[in-house]
Amino acid sequence: MANPHAGSGVVTEVADPTDQRAYRDLLGGYVTGVALVTALADGVPHGVAVNSFTSVSLDPPLVSFCAAYSSGTWPVIRDTGRFAVSILAEDQEPVSRVFARRGVDRFGDPATRDRFVAAPSGIPILRGSLGWLDCTITALHDAGDHELVLGRVTAMSRAVPGRPLLYFRGGYARLEG
Ligand SMILES: Cc1cc2nc3c(=O)[nH]c(=O)nc-3n(C[C@H](O)[C@H](O)[C@H](O)COP(=O)(O)O)c2cc1C
Repeated sequence: MANPHAGSGVVTEVADPTDQRAYRDLLGGYVTGVALVTALADGVPHGVAVNSFTSVSLDPPLVSFCAAYSSGTWPVIRDTGRFAVSILAEDQEPVSRVFARRGVDRFGDPATRDRFVAAPSGIPILRGSLGWLDCTITALHDAGDHELVLGRVTAMSRAVPGRPLLYFRGGYARLEG
């Protein structure tokens, strides 16, 4: 079949969604923020960096993120039934890097040590972030190689003025101007 968009100037070339390179290239052009998802399990803090965090519903207030089944940290967070989200500011790339690395003490690294305070739930949230949300897990949905997590917001900060850390085309980015 002929490409229906040929000549429209909208879609240049049709790609196969099972072509993982093409899939990553396309979706990597959808810019996101970066957040930490954290939890407290038996008094021990855990956390990962995510770019899949997004708002879902205003009434009731629901947010979501996707956790890879390959994650070692996610099952620990899931078992607590709760999580907190810290929205990273543009100068917090080093924190994101630590929270994406395996085999490091994510809360004890020089880039992250003493930078956390407790949300109302007791879960650590990052000082200097653009805001935080305390959530309870309300639904889990199998989503291919990820689990889609829906959380009800039980407490949150006011927004702090500042500029966000962005993720774009597989790398960190910042707003210009
Ligand atoms: C910018 C960025 C965004 C990420 N987003 C996600 C995400 O949305 N979901 C996810 O499961 N992992 C994401 N990761 C990977 C995790 O941060 C982490 O590397 C991974 O969970 C492995 O650590 P773990 O085994 O302790 O979970 C992201 C990493 C980076 C650097």
